[in-house]
Amino acid sequence: MAQTTASTLSILHRGRRLRRTAGIRSLVRETRLSPDTFLYPLFVCPGQGVRREVSSMPGVFQLSVDEVVAESAAAHAEGIPGVLLFGLPDRKDDVGSAAYDPDAPVQTAVRALKQAHPEVVVFTDVCLCEYTSHGHCGLVIDGEIANDPTVEQLVRAAVSHAAAGADVVSPSDMMDGRVAAIRHALDERGYEHVAIMSYAAKYCSAFYGPFREAAASAPSFGDRRSHQMDPANVDEALREVKQDIEEGADIVMVKPAMAYLDVLSKVKDTFGYPTAAYHVSGEYSMLKAAARHGWIDEPRAMLETLTAIRRAGADIIITYYAREAARLLG
Ligand code: PBG
Repeated sequence: MAQTTASTLSILHRGRRLRRTAGIRSLVRETRLSPDTFLYPLFVCPGQGVRREVSSMPGVFQLSVDEVVAESAAAHAEGIPGVLLFGLPDRKDDVGSAAYDPDAPVQTAVRALKQAHPEVVVFTDVCLCEYTSHGHCGLVIDGEIANDPTVEQLVRAAVSHAAAGADVVSPSDMMDGRVAAIRHALDERGYEHVAIMSYAAKYCSAFYGPFREAAASAPSFGDRRSHQMDPANVDEALREVKQDIEEGADIVMVKPAMAYLDVLSKVKDTFGYPTAAYHVSGEYSMLKAAARHGWIDEPRAMLETLTAIRRAGADIIITYYAREAARLLG
Protein backbone atom coordinates (compact mmCIF):
# COMPACT_ATOMS: atom_id res chain seq x y z
CA MET A 1 0.00 0.00 0.00
CA ALA A 2 1.23 3.45 -0.87
CA GLN A 3 2.36 5.69 1.91
CA THR A 4 0.29 8.97 1.87
CA THR A 5 1.30 10.74 5.06
CA ALA A 6 3.85 13.40 5.79
CA SER A 7 5.99 12.94 2.75
CA THR A 8 7.32 16.37 1.77
CA LEU A 9 8.65 17.07 -1.67
CA SER A 10 11.34 19.64 -1.95
CA ILE A 11 9.65 22.39 -3.99
CA LEU A 12 11.45 25.70 -3.80
CA HIS A 13 8.67 27.89 -5.14
CA ARG A 14 5.23 27.08 -3.84
CA GLY A 15 2.79 29.58 -5.37
CA ARG A 16 0.16 28.48 -2.90
CA ARG A 17 2.01 30.13 0.01
CA LEU A 18 0.83 33.52 -1.19
CA ARG A 19 -2.74 32.33 -1.77
CA ARG A 20 -3.30 30.99 1.74
CA THR A 21 -5.22 33.81 3.39
CA ALA A 22 -7.27 36.81 2.30
CA GLY A 23 -4.69 39.12 3.85
CA ILE A 24 -1.76 37.62 1.96
CA ARG A 25 -3.72 37.56 -1.29
CA SER A 26 -4.55 41.21 -0.83
CA LEU A 27 -0.90 42.16 -0.24
CA VAL A 28 0.30 40.55 -3.47
CA ARG A 29 -2.66 41.57 -5.64
CA GLU A 30 -1.44 43.18 -8.87
CA THR A 31 -4.58 44.87 -10.09
CA ARG A 32 -6.90 46.95 -7.97
CA LEU A 33 -10.36 48.00 -8.91
CA SER A 34 -11.57 51.31 -7.65
CA PRO A 35 -14.62 53.49 -8.40
CA ASP A 36 -12.35 56.39 -9.27
CA THR A 37 -11.50 54.68 -12.55
CA PHE A 38 -15.15 54.37 -13.60
CA LEU A 39 -17.02 56.55 -16.04
CA TYR A 40 -20.80 56.19 -15.87
CA PRO A 41 -22.85 56.38 -19.12
CA LEU A 42 -26.28 58.04 -18.88
CA PHE A 43 -29.09 58.53 -21.40
CA VAL A 44 -30.72 61.96 -21.30
CA CYS A 45 -34.30 62.33 -22.55
CA PRO A 46 -36.75 65.24 -22.69
CA GLY A 47 -39.21 65.93 -19.88
CA GLN A 48 -39.18 66.17 -16.11
CA GLY A 49 -39.12 63.44 -13.52
CA VAL A 50 -38.68 60.79 -16.24
CA ARG A 51 -36.97 57.53 -15.26
CA ARG A 52 -37.76 54.94 -17.92
CA GLU A 53 -36.03 51.58 -17.65
CA VAL A 54 -34.46 50.17 -20.83
CA SER A 55 -36.01 46.72 -21.20
CA SER A 56 -32.86 45.05 -22.53
CA MET A 57 -30.66 46.71 -19.89
CA PRO A 58 -32.09 46.13 -16.41
CA GLY A 59 -30.91 48.87 -14.04
CA VAL A 60 -30.30 51.35 -16.87
CA PHE A 61 -32.75 54.22 -17.43
CA GLN A 62 -33.54 56.97 -19.86
CA LEU A 63 -33.45 60.00 -17.58
CA SER A 64 -34.74 63.54 -17.88
CA VAL A 65 -32.30 66.35 -17.08
CA ASP A 66 -33.34 66.66 -13.41
CA GLU A 67 -32.90 62.90 -12.96
CA VAL A 68 -29.50 63.00 -14.69
CA VAL A 69 -28.38 65.63 -12.21
CA ALA A 70 -29.56 63.51 -9.27
CA GLU A 71 -28.07 60.28 -10.67
CA SER A 72 -24.71 61.93 -11.40
CA ALA A 73 -24.53 63.43 -7.91
CA ALA A 74 -25.33 60.05 -6.34
CA ALA A 75 -22.64 58.37 -8.45
CA HIS A 76 -20.14 61.04 -7.51
CA ALA A 77 -20.92 60.53 -3.83
CA GLU A 78 -20.07 56.85 -4.35
CA GLY A 79 -16.63 57.77 -5.69
CA ILE A 80 -17.29 57.84 -9.45
CA PRO A 81 -15.62 60.96 -10.90
CA GLY A 82 -17.66 61.44 -14.06
CA VAL A 83 -20.50 60.67 -16.42
CA LEU A 84 -20.74 60.18 -20.18
CA LEU A 85 -23.94 61.64 -21.63
CA PHE A 86 -25.95 60.35 -24.61
CA GLY A 87 -28.99 62.20 -25.90
CA LEU A 88 -32.50 61.25 -26.96
CA PRO A 89 -33.75 64.29 -28.87
CA ASP A 90 -37.47 64.97 -29.36
CA ARG A 91 -36.96 65.44 -33.09
CA LYS A 92 -34.74 63.81 -35.69
CA ASP A 93 -33.93 64.78 -39.27
CA ASP A 94 -31.71 63.43 -42.01
CA VAL A 95 -28.73 65.63 -41.08
CA GLY A 96 -28.98 65.14 -37.30
CA SER A 97 -29.33 68.84 -36.57
CA ALA A 98 -30.61 68.24 -33.01
CA ALA A 99 -27.06 67.09 -32.21
CA TYR A 100 -26.00 70.74 -32.01
CA ASP A 101 -29.21 72.29 -30.71
CA PRO A 102 -28.22 74.26 -27.60
CA ASP A 103 -31.57 73.37 -26.00
CA ALA A 104 -31.43 69.62 -26.72
CA PRO A 105 -31.29 67.20 -23.78
CA VAL A 106 -27.48 66.74 -23.64
CA GLN A 107 -26.63 70.44 -23.80
CA THR A 108 -29.32 71.22 -21.21
CA ALA A 109 -28.08 68.45 -18.93
CA VAL A 110 -24.47 69.63 -19.19
CA ARG A 111 -25.45 73.15 -18.12
CA ALA A 112 -27.66 71.89 -15.27
CA LEU A 113 -25.02 69.47 -14.06
CA LYS A 114 -22.20 71.99 -14.19
CA GLN A 115 -24.31 74.47 -12.27
CA ALA A 116 -25.46 72.03 -9.56
CA HIS A 117 -22.34 69.84 -9.27
CA PRO A 118 -19.32 71.42 -10.96
CA GLU A 119 -17.11 68.70 -9.47
CA VAL A 120 -18.68 66.00 -11.66
CA VAL A 121 -16.53 65.48 -14.77
CA VAL A 122 -18.87 65.69 -17.74
CA PHE A 123 -18.07 63.75 -20.91
CA THR A 124 -20.42 63.97 -23.89
CA ASP A 125 -20.81 61.46 -26.70
CA VAL A 126 -20.44 63.11 -30.09
CA CYS A 127 -22.20 61.20 -32.88
CA LEU A 128 -25.16 61.66 -35.19
CA CYS A 129 -26.83 58.25 -34.89
CA GLU A 130 -29.12 59.32 -32.05
CA TYR A 131 -30.14 62.40 -34.04
CA THR A 132 -30.63 61.22 -37.63
CA SER A 133 -34.02 59.97 -38.83
CA HIS A 134 -32.26 57.01 -40.53
CA GLY A 135 -30.13 56.14 -37.46
CA HIS A 136 -26.80 56.37 -39.26
CA CYS A 137 -23.77 58.00 -37.66
CA GLY A 138 -23.40 60.43 -40.55
CA LEU A 139 -24.99 62.06 -43.56
CA VAL A 140 -26.13 59.58 -46.17
CA ILE A 141 -25.30 60.72 -49.71
CA ASP A 142 -25.90 58.35 -52.65
CA GLY A 143 -26.40 55.48 -50.21
CA GLU A 144 -23.07 56.01 -48.47
CA ILE A 145 -22.06 57.69 -45.21
CA ALA A 146 -20.28 60.80 -46.47
CA ASN A 147 -17.19 61.37 -44.37
CA ASP A 148 -16.30 65.05 -44.67
CA PRO A 149 -19.80 66.55 -44.49
CA THR A 150 -20.40 64.35 -41.45
CA VAL A 151 -17.25 65.70 -39.79
CA GLU A 152 -18.66 69.22 -40.19
CA GLN A 153 -21.80 68.19 -38.32
CA LEU A 154 -19.77 66.46 -35.59
CA VAL A 155 -17.71 69.62 -35.13
CA ARG A 156 -20.94 71.59 -34.59
CA ALA A 157 -22.08 69.06 -32.00
CA ALA A 158 -18.75 69.06 -30.15
CA VAL A 159 -18.63 72.87 -30.09
CA SER A 160 -22.18 73.03 -28.70
CA HIS A 161 -21.23 70.59 -25.93
CA ALA A 162 -18.15 72.67 -25.09
CA ALA A 163 -20.26 75.84 -25.07
CA ALA A 164 -22.63 74.17 -22.58
CA GLY A 165 -19.66 73.43 -20.32
CA ALA A 166 -18.58 69.85 -21.10
CA ASP A 167 -15.15 68.89 -19.78
CA VAL A 168 -14.50 66.22 -22.41
CA VAL A 169 -16.11 65.62 -25.81
CA SER A 170 -16.05 62.11 -27.09
CA PRO A 171 -16.52 61.40 -30.80
CA SER A 172 -17.86 57.86 -31.33
CA ASP A 173 -18.63 58.04 -35.04
CA MET A 174 -15.39 56.62 -36.56
CA MET A 175 -15.25 59.17 -39.39
CA ASP A 176 -11.73 59.96 -40.62
CA GLY A 177 -10.19 63.23 -39.53
CA ARG A 178 -12.79 64.19 -36.94
CA VAL A 179 -10.41 64.51 -34.00
CA ALA A 180 -8.26 67.12 -35.77
CA ALA A 181 -11.31 68.99 -37.00
CA ILE A 182 -12.87 69.05 -33.52
CA ARG A 183 -9.58 70.09 -31.88
CA HIS A 184 -9.14 72.90 -34.35
CA ALA A 185 -12.70 74.19 -33.95
CA LEU A 186 -12.55 74.06 -30.14
CA ASP A 187 -9.27 75.96 -30.03
CA GLU A 188 -10.52 78.56 -32.46
CA ARG A 189 -13.45 79.34 -30.18
CA GLY A 190 -11.55 79.52 -26.91
CA TYR A 191 -12.29 75.97 -25.72
CA GLU A 192 -8.66 74.87 -25.68
CA HIS A 193 -9.21 73.50 -22.14
CA VAL A 194 -11.86 71.04 -23.34
CA ALA A 195 -10.35 67.57 -23.80
CA ILE A 196 -11.12 64.95 -26.45
CA MET A 197 -11.62 61.27 -25.68
CA SER A 198 -11.76 59.56 -29.06
CA TYR A 199 -13.41 56.25 -29.68
CA ALA A 200 -10.18 55.40 -31.50
CA ALA A 201 -10.54 51.64 -32.02
CA LYS A 202 -14.25 51.10 -32.20
CA TYR A 203 -15.28 47.80 -33.70
CA CYS A 204 -18.39 46.92 -35.68
CA SER A 205 -19.82 44.81 -32.89
CA ALA A 206 -23.00 42.87 -32.21
CA PHE A 207 -22.61 43.84 -28.57
CA TYR A 208 -24.09 47.32 -29.14
CA GLY A 209 -27.60 45.89 -29.60
CA PRO A 210 -29.15 46.92 -26.26
CA PHE A 211 -27.60 50.42 -26.49
CA ARG A 212 -29.50 51.01 -29.70
CA GLU A 213 -32.72 50.39 -27.80
CA ALA A 214 -31.55 52.68 -24.99
CA ALA A 215 -30.54 55.47 -27.37
CA ALA A 216 -33.13 54.74 -30.10
CA SER A 217 -30.28 54.75 -32.62
CA ALA A 218 -30.53 51.55 -34.65
CA PRO A 219 -29.92 52.17 -38.36
CA SER A 220 -33.15 51.81 -40.35
CA PHE A 221 -31.22 50.18 -43.24
CA GLY A 222 -27.71 48.85 -43.72
CA ASP A 223 -25.11 48.63 -40.98
CA ARG A 224 -21.99 50.40 -39.67
CA ARG A 225 -19.35 48.29 -41.43
CA SER A 226 -18.17 51.12 -43.69
CA HIS A 227 -16.80 53.08 -40.72
CA GLN A 228 -16.55 50.85 -37.62
CA MET A 229 -13.63 48.41 -37.56
CA ASP A 230 -13.59 44.76 -38.59
CA PRO A 231 -13.44 42.63 -35.39
CA ALA A 232 -10.65 40.57 -36.94
CA ASN A 233 -8.11 43.42 -37.02
CA VAL A 234 -5.54 44.55 -34.48
CA ASP A 235 -2.73 46.21 -36.50
CA GLU A 236 -5.39 48.49 -37.87
CA ALA A 237 -6.44 49.41 -34.32
CA LEU A 238 -2.90 50.57 -33.59
CA ARG A 239 -2.95 52.71 -36.73
CA GLU A 240 -6.30 54.23 -35.75
CA VAL A 241 -5.07 55.02 -32.25
CA LYS A 242 -1.82 56.50 -33.56
CA GLN A 243 -3.69 58.74 -35.94
CA ASP A 244 -6.09 59.97 -33.26
CA ILE A 245 -3.19 60.76 -30.93
CA GLU A 246 -1.47 62.67 -33.73
CA GLU A 247 -4.70 64.54 -34.41
CA GLY A 248 -4.87 65.68 -30.79
CA ALA A 249 -6.86 63.10 -28.80
CA ASP A 250 -6.19 63.34 -25.05
CA ILE A 251 -7.65 59.94 -24.20
CA VAL A 252 -8.04 57.01 -26.59
CA MET A 253 -10.65 54.30 -26.29
CA VAL A 254 -11.01 50.66 -27.24
CA LYS A 255 -14.55 49.42 -27.64
CA PRO A 256 -16.04 46.91 -26.82
CA ALA A 257 -13.93 45.68 -23.90
CA MET A 258 -14.31 41.98 -23.06
CA ALA A 259 -13.79 40.51 -26.50
CA TYR A 260 -11.01 43.02 -27.28
CA LEU A 261 -8.72 42.78 -24.25
CA ASP A 262 -5.78 41.91 -26.49
CA VAL A 263 -6.34 45.12 -28.43
CA LEU A 264 -6.59 47.11 -25.22
CA SER A 265 -3.39 45.62 -23.90
CA LYS A 266 -1.49 46.39 -27.11
CA VAL A 267 -2.80 49.94 -27.27
CA LYS A 268 -1.72 50.64 -23.70
CA ASP A 269 1.68 48.96 -24.18
CA THR A 270 2.38 50.64 -27.50
CA PHE A 271 1.40 54.22 -26.70
CA GLY A 272 1.40 54.51 -22.90
CA TYR A 273 -1.42 56.99 -23.37
CA PRO A 274 -4.49 57.56 -21.16
CA THR A 275 -6.65 54.68 -22.31
CA ALA A 276 -10.34 53.98 -21.81
CA ALA A 277 -12.24 50.76 -22.42
CA TYR A 278 -15.99 50.68 -23.00
CA HIS A 279 -17.71 47.74 -21.33
CA VAL A 280 -20.64 48.01 -23.71
CA SER A 281 -24.36 47.39 -23.45
CA GLY A 282 -24.36 43.82 -24.75
CA GLU A 283 -21.61 42.81 -22.34
CA TYR A 284 -23.66 44.27 -19.48
CA SER A 285 -26.93 42.72 -20.64
CA MET A 286 -25.40 39.24 -21.00
CA LEU A 287 -24.31 39.27 -17.37
CA LYS A 288 -27.68 40.66 -16.25
CA ALA A 289 -29.58 38.02 -18.21
CA ALA A 290 -27.48 35.11 -16.97
CA ALA A 291 -27.76 36.41 -13.40
CA ARG A 292 -31.55 36.67 -13.69
CA HIS A 293 -31.67 33.01 -14.64
CA GLY A 294 -29.48 32.18 -11.66
CA TRP A 295 -26.77 30.91 -14.01
CA ILE A 296 -23.94 33.05 -12.71
CA ASP A 297 -23.07 34.85 -9.50
CA GLU A 298 -23.52 38.43 -10.74
CA PRO A 299 -21.39 40.38 -8.22
CA ARG A 300 -18.45 38.04 -8.73
CA ALA A 301 -18.81 37.95 -12.51
CA MET A 302 -19.11 41.74 -12.62
CA LEU A 303 -15.99 42.37 -10.52
CA GLU A 304 -14.02 39.69 -12.37
CA THR A 305 -14.93 41.31 -15.69
CA LEU A 306 -14.04 44.83 -14.57
CA THR A 307 -10.78 43.57 -13.03
CA ALA A 308 -9.85 41.89 -16.31
CA ILE A 309 -10.47 45.11 -18.23
CA ARG A 310 -8.25 46.99 -15.80
CA ARG A 311 -5.58 44.26 -15.86
CA ALA A 312 -5.48 44.48 -19.67
CA GLY A 313 -4.53 48.16 -19.43
CA ALA A 314 -7.58 50.40 -19.03
CA ASP A 315 -7.08 53.57 -17.05
CA ILE A 316 -10.76 54.41 -17.41
CA ILE A 317 -13.56 51.84 -17.51
CA ILE A 318 -16.81 53.03 -19.01
CA THR A 319 -19.50 50.79 -17.56
CA TYR A 320 -23.21 50.67 -16.81
CA TYR A 321 -22.17 48.72 -13.72
CA ALA A 322 -20.31 51.76 -12.30
CA ARG A 323 -22.65 52.34 -9.36
CA GLU A 324 -23.26 48.67 -8.55
CA ALA A 325 -19.53 47.99 -8.60
CA ALA A 326 -18.72 51.11 -6.59
CA ARG A 327 -21.17 50.05 -3.89
CA LEU A 328 -19.61 46.60 -3.67
CA LEU A 329 -16.09 47.98 -3.59
CA GLY A 330 -16.93 50.70 -1.09
C1 PBG B 1 -22.88 55.87 -31.04
C2 PBG B 1 -22.49 54.91 -29.98
C3 PBG B 1 -22.79 53.55 -29.86
C4 PBG B 1 -22.29 53.14 -28.63
C5 PBG B 1 -21.67 54.23 -28.06
N1 PBG B 1 -21.78 55.32 -28.92
C6 PBG B 1 -23.59 52.65 -30.71
C7 PBG B 1 -23.18 52.33 -32.08
O1 PBG B 1 -22.05 52.57 -32.51
O2 PBG B 1 -24.05 51.80 -32.76
C8 PBG B 1 -22.43 51.77 -28.03
C9 PBG B 1 -22.40 51.72 -26.54
C10 PBG B 1 -22.92 50.45 -25.95
O3 PBG B 1 -23.26 49.48 -26.64
O4 PBG B 1 -23.00 50.42 -24.71
N2 PBG B 1 -22.27 55.76 -32.25
